[in-house]
Amino acid sequence: PLPEPFKVPLPIPPVKKPVRTEADGDYYRVVQKRASLEILPGLRTEVLGYDGLFPGPTFDVRSGRTTVIEQVNQLDVPTVVHLHGGHTPAASDGWPLDLLLPNGGHHEHMDHMDTGGGDQKTGSRTYTYPNTQRAAALWYHDHRMDYTAPQVYRGLVGLHLIRDDEEDALPLPRGDREIPLVIADRAFAADGSFRYPAAKNGPGVESAYMEGVIGDVVLVNGAPWPVLEVAAAKYRFRILNASNARRYELALDPGQPLIQIGSDGGLLGAPVEHDSLVVAPAERFDVVVDFSKYQPGTEVTLLNKLSKDRTGQVMRFRVTAKAADDTSIPSKLSSYAAVPEPAGVVRRKWAFRRGDAGGHTGWTINGKAFDPEVMQAEVKLDQYEIWSFVTDVHHPVHVHLAPFQVLRRGGKKPGPYDAGWKDTVDIRPAEVVEVLVRFTAHKGKYLIHCHNLEHEDMAMMAAFRTS
Ligand code: C2O
Ligand code: CU
Repeated sequence: PLPEPFKVPLPIPPVKKPVRTEADGDYYRVVQKRASLEILPGLRTEVLGYDGLFPGPTFDVRSGRTTVIEQVNQLDVPTVVHLHGGHTPAASDGWPLDLLLPNGGHHEHMDHMDTGGGDQKTGSRTYTYPNTQRAAALWYHDHRMDYTAPQVYRGLVGLHLIRDDEEDALPLPRGDREIPLVIADRAFAADGSFRYPAAKNGPGVESAYMEGVIGDVVLVNGAPWPVLEVAAAKYRFRILNASNARRYELALDPGQPLIQIGSDGGLLGAPVEHDSLVVAPAERFDVVVDFSKYQPGTEVTLLNKLSKDRTGQVMRFRVTAKAADDTSIPSKLSSYAAVPEPAGVVRRKWAFRRGDAGGHTGWTINGKAFDPEVMQAEVKLDQYEIWSFVTDVHHPVHVHLAPFQVLRRGGKKPGPYDAGWKDTVDIRPAEVVEVLVRFTAHKGKYLIHCHNLEHEDMAMMAAFRTS
């Protein structure tokens, strides 16, 4: 039985506190463990959680200040942590075979594990994030080879917000008027457990789920169709689509525009108004909503216009009372500027298509299933390149290490949701999207992949090397 919507208050993930602070950075410790949470009222759901939470704790850190995180695996499955959107040295980027193995004897799924070539650790592993990048909403999640989708589905996600002086100087809503919204759909069995259609033998999903796993319950910050009481004032929402495969077209009812101030890679140069906002898996949108345009007492529903069933609703805002509000949305948000398209740069094409993934149908890039031994590109640091993404069906394409700017979509100008620095871009069926990208600082092996997590696990991932 699906829960009644708009009964559960919106939870806010706790901000993670460092265990110590040194001149060279802030040190944290996270324990990955199973926990039994009440997600659906009256039922228990077992999650795999960072600190036993779903979503995990939020890291709230400063640009340029290093974050060192000791991850402790108290689960019974290997894990890998990736900081999505991070400008991260390869050793800490969460290469899918750099496994963090749990302590102790026999582990579920270990028999099928491909251990080739990875740097494995047992018990705990330290990830170092220099945060040498502008303010932005990053997120961290599991990235284990072949098992990212089920392990994210069971709870291994959290936010990592980077702040900087440029952003701090703006008169934007903050404090309890800056709210993260981690949106993820899930399906549940009658006993409250997550219903993930894992293949019976080995990695991947049942063949009926080639297109990805879609749930019938929309969770925001881990709660089903929650409700948030808001003052009649402006609020800033840090939206992340943490769903495995579902897209949302967000809109307010009663209607008013969503004012986008930032994208995956931080603040835009100037705000962009949207009547509705299409958010693909892994994309982040930084949005301001002005609730003073509603009368106190108004119930405002955040809709998902891509669904006709109950997943056509996401959450509700209950406007309480008028309140003082000295915030505003400046017409110039940041020093962001589109980089002029350089001539004579390296161009690469990445084709995302259904194909042969080792004797069975899977998803491929440039006709190849993911092979950690094969570098599909050798990329020089500090040089701009133009990458073209080509698809068969809909794929949200993500590149590690560096953000990109969308140059063209379907040969024309960028689409309405392509503004700013992006690290994930949604490619519609049979469409070509060209982006301008430049990798800096870190040499090593990195990934490009589809962020439909079932597609990723079904081999739609490729490695490239920077040097
Ligand atoms: Cu959010 Cu390689 O992933
Ligand atoms: Cu895909």
